[in-house]
Amino acid sequence: MSAQTQARRKTVRDIAKAKGGEPLVCLTAYDAPMAALLDPHADVLLVGDSVGMVVHGLPSTVGVTMEMMILHGQAVMRGSVEAFVVVDMPFGSYETNSDQAFLNAARIMKETGCQAVKIESGTYAATQIEHLVARGIPVMGHVGLRPQAVNVDGGFRAKGRSEKEWSTALAEAKAADEAGAFAIVVEGVAHELAEQITKSVKCPTIGIGASPTCDGQILVTDDMLGITDWVPKFVKKYADLRAEITKAAINYAADVRSRRFPGEAQTYKLPKPPSN
Ligand code: KIV
Repeated sequence: MSAQTQARRKTVRDIAKAKGGEPLVCLTAYDAPMAALLDPHADVLLVGDSVGMVVHGLPSTVGVTMEMMILHGQAVMRGSVEAFVVVDMPFGSYETNSDQAFLNAARIMKETGCQAVKIESGTYAATQIEHLVARGIPVMGHVGLRPQAVNVDGGFRAKGRSEKEWSTALAEAKAADEAGAFAIVVEGVAHELAEQITKSVKCPTIGIGASPTCDGQILVTDDMLGITDWVPKFVKKYADLRAEITKAAINYAADVRSRRFPGEAQTYKLPKPPSN
């Protein structure tokens, strides 16, 4: 990538200074063509480990590997020029200790060229966040519903209904903020808790199923485009691509079977057939 292209990218400072200002527009992206379409409209493109469920058909994000994140991160970097690109650290790549977190985060940064990594930040992960930031790696935190904890939680459940869940999510956010996270994703929590978290941390919060009081919003792109078959209550669909794709596939199949496709317009013809 040329220095000129790099210079057009939003930086961690652009994201951090959005606290309390115009909301940050964030979306997930996993491949180059989608990244190119979203790039002019999004401040942040997140190569989320949701790629495991959305693209690879996994039942949760637990099976996602470093190799998957790097491959999709590289594609999103190739497709985008302006957005700030964050790549998720997959389950098992940072929890052991700070050295493991640094080696894997540095590998993601080097091999993809992304600007930051995201860590699902239970309170224990504050140590890892501080370690990475001190060594030149910007970190986005992720609190509330943490999909990588699906097996402990017994499903993807919204957080903050009990006093314990409320105080855990708040403590996780404060710990990530104090450790130096430049932004924090707040997922699947009630409006009141999202508001308290947003007021309690210095860095911008990015809500998903949280509340409009967050400093930005993120959705899984396939959900908001209506490609995914089931979506949680907090998703607003801005398109119905599932219906569009189904209609296109039905029409294509009918055309092929009836020999309407390929037609004249899609067929190469020689101006003069070879004389042999
Ligand atoms: O993996 C992901 O896509 C995410 C977003 C939903 C925030 O973490």
